[in-house]
Amino acid sequence: MTEPTLTPTSRILSGMRPTGSLHLGHMKGVLDNWLNLQNQHQCFFFAADWHALTTDYANPGIVKETIWDMLIDWLAVGIDPEKSTLFIQSEVPEHAELHLLFSFMTPLAWLERVPTYKDQIAQLREKDLGTYGFLGYPLLQAADILIYRADAVPVGEDQVPHVELTREVARRFNHLYRTPSQPLFAEPAALLMPTSKMPGLDGRKMSKSYGNTISLSESWKETEKKVKQMPTDPARVRREDPGSPEKCPVWDFHKIYSTEDERCELTAGCTSASIGCIDCKKVLLSHLEDELQPIRTRRLDIASRPDDVRDIVKSGNERARLEASRTMDKVRKSLKMGYRV
Ligand code: TRP
Ligand code: SF4
Repeated sequence: MTEPTLTPTSRILSGMRPTGSLHLGHMKGVLDNWLNLQNQHQCFFFAADWHALTTDYANPGIVKETIWDMLIDWLAVGIDPEKSTLFIQSEVPEHAELHLLFSFMTPLAWLERVPTYKDQIAQLREKDLGTYGFLGYPLLQAADILIYRADAVPVGEDQVPHVELTREVARRFNHLYRTPSQPLFAEPAALLMPTSKMPGLDGRKMSKSYGNTISLSESWKETEKKVKQMPTDPARVRREDPGSPEKCPVWDFHKIYSTEDERCELTAGCTSASIGCIDCKKVLLSHLEDELQPIRTRRLDIASRPDDVRDIVKSGNERARLEASRTMDKVRKSLKMGYRV
């Protein structure tokens, strides 16, 4: 994959499904990246509520409950509505129209071979995903991206095939309905976000499905309690038993949060049993506190002003709709469908 050349006017677009409260893994993996991008480019970030319904169609309440929490989390970490356009997918119905038009020209085989398709069906066996809409998941994503004529899409590794598909769809549309000198859609680049290295509380990757997260919205008390209960090197049964940091899930956090000097001291303390695990965890907690507490204070403040949040999203939706409708005018014309009656 070649790195695209991006300029301040390049347009970046990304979406996130509202499926549960955001945690440190999202922050380090995705949101930090978005923060960076919003300072350099024109960004559109949206809540992919229709995409969430492809798997949660039997349970639409989940989407409703989590969508505002997710948007508030974005604002709390610093996604800035003055810089970025924040919106909700289903508030811009043009995405659905473009998805429909794309569905006519997209070979079934293109969708069937997308790796996430079979993977997800196998992983979420308790849900019946043998649906028309689930097969079309990446095509809806292609519509999300192309409707804003995005130059680049920050995504995790698993989503790269979806951007690839988007490029193929753009090419096919241009080939069928436009002349080579006047393509409508440029092919967007995937901006590969480094996969989050954030470990979970139990040493596995931080993930809601493992129940090992530190969420952005929980209280400091809860975070403290979780960290204090974290497992450590099993060799340190008693305070006097020496341990090895490399065998300890707490250490994975120190690698991210602590300074070189602190790590030296902690290693010496752990291997000689001159410090206890509680002392070691206190160092980590102070770093977590520095990082999380300002976000949580902002979060509480933003959450106490729901009308402001609504206004931000409302104007983001409008801005997105305007952009999307411009593209759709051109799409309809390309398909000889702008009847203007
Ligand atoms: N499929 C993406 C995910 O699960 C979410 C998404 C929907 C998206 N539409 C998008 C991401 C468009 C980037 C661009 O993470
Ligand atoms: Fe883990 Fe720290 Fe305890 Fe060593 S002292 S086992 S690194 S928590």
